[in-house]
Amino acid sequence: MIIAGKGISFSYEYDGSGILALHDIDISVRQGEFVAILGCNGSGKSTLVKHLNALLSIQRGTLYVANIDVSNREEVWRLRRICGMVFQNPDNQFVSSVVEEDIAFGLENYEVPREEIPARVSDALRLVNMAGWEKRSPHMLSGGQKQRVALAGVLALDPAIVVFDEATAMLDPEGRREVLEIIRQLHAMGKTILMITHYAEEAVYADTVVLMHNGKVAACGAPREILTNLELMMQVQMIPPAPVRLYHDLKEAGIELAYCPLTTEEFVDAICRLK
Ligand SMILES: Nc1ncnc2c1ncn2[C@@H]1O[C@H](COP(=O)(O)OP(=O)(O)O)[C@@H](O)[C@H]1O
Ligand SMILES: [Mg+2]
Repeated sequence: MIIAGKGISFSYEYDGSGILALHDIDISVRQGEFVAILGCNGSGKSTLVKHLNALLSIQRGTLYVANIDVSNREEVWRLRRICGMVFQNPDNQFVSSVVEEDIAFGLENYEVPREEIPARVSDALRLVNMAGWEKRSPHMLSGGQKQRVALAGVLALDPAIVVFDEATAMLDPEGRREVLEIIRQLHAMGKTILMITHYAEEAVYADTVVLMHNGKVAACGAPREILTNLELMMQVQMIPPAPVRLYHDLKEAGIELAYCPLTTEEFVDAICRLK
């Protein structure tokens, strides 16, 4: 397991008297797995992933990331190279007004040898379909482009794990589609992906869905198992993907599809099978 956590609890009130933002979480992720962490606002998703690269210090439980104990402060920099994170607001992730300098700056921080930097910068920009934009200012780019440059900064360090914390939340549909497409490509390349979202639609293509609610893991399983379970989704105040809702609406109207579709393609297929 590239991520192995047991009994993780966390409170933002330092004396530990307050309500728990995380309550006895177990999590395990295989190398190369694409995990969607799904849950409504305040369910503890960000708090959980911030433990992975020691942005938050673990208070209770154990967590190993690529066999590194996250409580070992001496390993913080190595941990952050292995586990890269992309956050919601791309504007908060730039330090330079030139795209290539911004990415190079990150590499210098991690003491990547100077002669390796140009190749790493151009490889990373190519991975996110932003080759040719080296000399531009990040602030002049569209939201989706900014987010892809921020991602290039993370990928330049060649992390084994990439965490996306609602990285598409501030983007328009086009930008969202671009970023999701790259997430799927990175998964195909063998990266381990953790993608936080509160849109069930975005979790459809993951290998595994971890459903969070009130600081606990409410359920964990294949997207089909979790996202088509209407009762479970309602319990955790999540809106199921549109095809799942349509399936249940049709059923109530007396029309029974052969199976509960997860995607538009499956929905069309299921409709075509109606006699
Ligand atoms: N910096 C903080 N200080 C105090 N409480 C926080 C802080 N960040 C988050 N919380 C609380 O912790 C809980 C989990 O939040 P969070 O992990 O951000 O959830 P999510 O990412 O799923 O929206 C919420 O109740 C939230 O209000
Ligand atoms: Mg969050």
